[in-house]
Amino acid sequence: MLDWSEPKPNSPIPPLGTDAPAVDATGLGEIERGGARVSVDDKRMINARADVNQLLPLKYRWAWEKYLSGCNNHWMPTEVSMQADIALWKSREGLTDDERRMIKRNLGFFAASESLVANNIVLAIYRHLTNPECRQYLLRQAFEEAIHTHTFQYIVESLSLDEGELFNMYREVPSITDKAAWALKHTQNLDNPDFRTGTPEADQSFLRDLVAFYVIFEGMWFYTGFAQILSLGRRNKMVGIAEQYQYILRDESIHLNFGIDVINQIKLENPHLWTKAFQDEVRGMISNAAELEAAYGRDTMPRGFLGLNAALCEQYMHFIANRRCAQLGLVPVFAEAENPFPWMSEAMDLKKEKNFFETRVIEYQNGGALAWD
Ligand SMILES: [Fe+2]
Ligand SMILES: [Fe+2]
Repeated sequence: MLDWSEPKPNSPIPPLGTDAPAVDATGLGEIERGGARVSVDDKRMINARADVNQLLPLKYRWAWEKYLSGCNNHWMPTEVSMQADIALWKSREGLTDDERRMIKRNLGFFAASESLVANNIVLAIYRHLTNPECRQYLLRQAFEEAIHTHTFQYIVESLSLDEGELFNMYREVPSITDKAAWALKHTQNLDNPDFRTGTPEADQSFLRDLVAFYVIFEGMWFYTGFAQILSLGRRNKMVGIAEQYQYILRDESIHLNFGIDVINQIKLENPHLWTKAFQDEVRGMISNAAELEAAYGRDTMPRGFLGLNAALCEQYMHFIANRRCAQLGLVPVFAEAENPFPWMSEAMDLKKEKNFFETRVIEYQNGGALAWD
């Protein structure tokens, strides 16, 4: 049996005993017959003392609201016409070799990354995040990641691209492999069947995974990827893919903000985890990730195009990295950097940007602008 006694305020939550059943945090353990009703005060982000199978009473309304926003933003890639993209891709003059290289590598990066992110949610995060409203959001996010993977299947099929070349790129192109391998280290740690939260070391491992996937993978690396394609869309090239990326960007900005809220809430409930040394480690992760992204930028855009090149992408990464630090309450990693792509924030507001790419724009009844970016 677990010891459910309440820890002293701000003291580490006692570790689970070695004889604790492995399923306690999952909600799959034995039913406690006649167990008391859930008290909202017992709900916790990690190491909960409340039954994880009961959504109500809600404690974290921000998580529920993100679940509703995700549902309201529902879209399918197949609703976007690919006719203009197909014509351009097949034409000899429409795209330069450099543009083709960037598009392919960008698609290759995203094609596998959506699966890595989905696997991390389902196989690592879900198990240890002991709050039902957050799990409700994770289930919605997992479906959105499936839609994003579907998008790359649809693009490959529409443009008759080499599916092996694209989906295997994360194992063939070093600048993409390096990013995927860097993130995977953090989920592999949690993937160990013996991994349990409940000690400061384990709880910090869980936080590292959240930082690696939500803040860095989805919150930094995806953003330069969006900027690359949306910059082409602004020049009226590959407008179908650009429109799909706008929808993905809208989804991802909620994923990112959910991750930030989760991390900040865990910090609030477990201040002993957020030590100066740990803050420095997270800042180190963010600056390391920006370097990997700069290498990817040089690899995908060795020469650059109108309004877009590796140096501007690196500057954008510094701007984004500092913004993520601010969202986590960390000291910025880089010297103050100006946003070289101010149009990126407008690209997220689909209502405002209606007909921006002059393709068929789908308007969902409830789809709307984001209150966060
Ligand atoms: Fe995604
Ligand atoms: Fe995502």
